[in-house]
Amino acid sequence: MTYLETTAQFYSEVAQTPQVGLCCVQSSSLQLPELNIPLQMQQMNYGCGTTVHPTELAHAPTVLYVGVGGGLEALQFAYFSRRQGAVIAVEPVTAMREAATRNLKLAAQENAWFDPSFVEIREGDAFSLPVADASVDVLAQNCLFNIFTPQDLHLALKEAFRVLKPQGRLLMSDPIATRSIPQHLQQDERLRAMCLSGALTYEQYIKHLVNTGFGQIEIRARRPYRLLDSQSYRLKEHLLLESLDTVSYKVPIPEDGACVFTGKTAIYAGTKPFFDDGAGHLLQRGIPAAVCDKTAIKLASFSEEITITNSTWYYDGGGCC
Ligand SMILES: C[S@@+](CC[C@H](N)C(=O)[O-])C[C@H]1O[C@@H](n2cnc3c(N)ncnc32)[C@H](O)[C@@H]1O
Repeated sequence: MTYLETTAQFYSEVAQTPQVGLCCVQSSSLQLPELNIPLQMQQMNYGCGTTVHPTELAHAPTVLYVGVGGGLEALQFAYFSRRQGAVIAVEPVTAMREAATRNLKLAAQENAWFDPSFVEIREGDAFSLPVADASVDVLAQNCLFNIFTPQDLHLALKEAFRVLKPQGRLLMSDPIATRSIPQHLQQDERLRAMCLSGALTYEQYIKHLVNTGFGQIEIRARRPYRLLDSQSYRLKEHLLLESLDTVSYKVPIPEDGACVFTGKTAIYAGTKPFFDDGAGHLLQRGIPAAVCDKTAIKLASFSEEITITNSTWYYDGGGCC
């Protein structure tokens, strides 16, 4: 079997017999007024963070959700769009498509605003999405792409890029590794399927997004996810996995490189009322301005009168870039 077949088999098993806490989400799922999540759906929360960012979901966007799981996030996206077929959920595993269909029917019983027709579940996979070029506003995947080998991740990202409209957004949540995961774990297909051994480092993960063509990437959360302890996983030292939530925009990459926002700000503390770098960045004295990491490096090199604050690993708009 290939690792993708092992993955499909694993998710067929956990579709039929839910494994509560499989992905050990650290944050409770998004609570919204008049949104009731059926228990069966909660028990099949196989994500590692969240991809549902309300600020990205104005104007009832068309959302393509890849790897539906128990349907939890598809329901949350439907909450914002509330129209027939606004959420298209792609899933290759028959038992998972059946479980999500059942769970969404339950959701309709518990939520007066929801109709199962709001979510259309389609057979398909991340490498061949059953939708036209440039046809969706938002593409989301939670805890799936980390399972893929780097070559397959490249294909899946290229496919996501293809189906997004210009300015469209890729919302992802995945584990990342604080150092490279050793080969003996990477080759363990079951661990990989469980989102425990395919993770890239932060730098590798962001590089894949930039190489695909996304011009702006925002970090929405970065938090501890799991510890692979040295004894159970035959490691020299414990290895911490983190979960990373990102929003990537299908906008052109600027000539001097993609903008990656990690929550840094630049603060001018000189004698003039403001600092102008002549490249579109105007800093008012004493007022933090959000900057991407690339601009942070440039501004810091200009003047000792500019302080750059640390990454907060949370950014959702504003600033000077
Ligand atoms: C870790 S689960 C995450 C489920 C859901 N996103 C959540 O947050 O609960 C991964 C999901 O992707 C599906 N999947 C597996 N291989 C896939 C592929 N090649 N393309 C698309 N989905 C796939 C699995 O069947 C499963 O539903």
